[in-house]
Amino acid sequence: MEPNDNVVGSKSPTAVAINSASKAGEWIKSRLGTYKQLDTKLSPQDLVTDVDKGAELMIRKLILTHFPDHEILGEEGMPPGADASAEALAKASTSDYLWIVDPVDGTTNFVHGFPFFCVSLALAYRGEVVVGVIYDPLRDELFVAEKGKGAYVHGNPTHVSEDADLSSSVVAVGFNPDRQFALPTNMKGINALAMQTRSIRAGGSAALHLAYVAAGRLSGYYEIGLNVWDVAAGALLVKESGGTVTDTEGNPYHLGVKHLVATNGKIHGEMLESLKAAEATGILK
Ligand code: IPD
Ligand code: CA
Ligand code: CA
Repeated sequence: MEPNDNVVGSKSPTAVAINSASKAGEWIKSRLGTYKQLDTKLSPQDLVTDVDKGAELMIRKLILTHFPDHEILGEEGMPPGADASAEALAKASTSDYLWIVDPVDGTTNFVHGFPFFCVSLALAYRGEVVVGVIYDPLRDELFVAEKGKGAYVHGNPTHVSEDADLSSSVVAVGFNPDRQFALPTNMKGINALAMQTRSIRAGGSAALHLAYVAAGRLSGYYEIGLNVWDVAAGALLVKESGGTVTDTEGNPYHLGVKHLVATNGKIHGEMLESLKAAEATGILK
């Protein structure tokens, strides 16, 4: 089977991804400040609202209208936790076409009215991401990448930054909601990077951080303890914009990677070294 088989009607997967992300994003924006229900998942820091759930349902319906045979792995469609998500990924990865959906990346921001969140959608074909779309409804910025065809923001090609070393770079990090393992490890990396970079940022949306690395607005992003839906679309955006995406030990990105480093390529080695020296890779031997 080749990409684009099993298409109902004439829309390409990329067009469906763009349409789904845009529609969901507009709806999420319309609900900013007016969500009806707030729950926590694994920890009091891990939030979910009726808007996350509603947006995921909307995206699922739109995708299945065009691709009824495709598999969908969405954050809100499964039990929370690293084990459940690894299991779901392993199960879903046996299908040729797998959509990977984060309906709201940056839910804490959405809940608090901090204007930095997005919809993140990726399509993987036999385990490799071939389409990545990230939509920021508040800035109306649509980031689109297709494997081998480059990446774009509103039709303009994106390129990673030219910064050649950490000292001239602005790098993003994440304060992961898992306070048992991920956050303490992230803090070691944050400590190291804060001293070595021009400055660090922690906007609270992994996917938007990756889109910003792709667009050259940040030179790198690092976080321990991510899930496939946080990263899949953004990883393709960074790669198609000329950057490098690996795990924290420098191994190439694949759908199972949870400890991530994404950069403009030029600072990748230095960033990996810095995280290794700080014992902040999250990879236990
Ligand atoms: C979270 C955000 C945050 C990152 C967390 C993610 P969510 O996703 O991307 O920036 O630090 O690790 O879980 O819960 O807002 O979809
Ligand atoms: Ca997320
Ligand atoms: Ca989410």
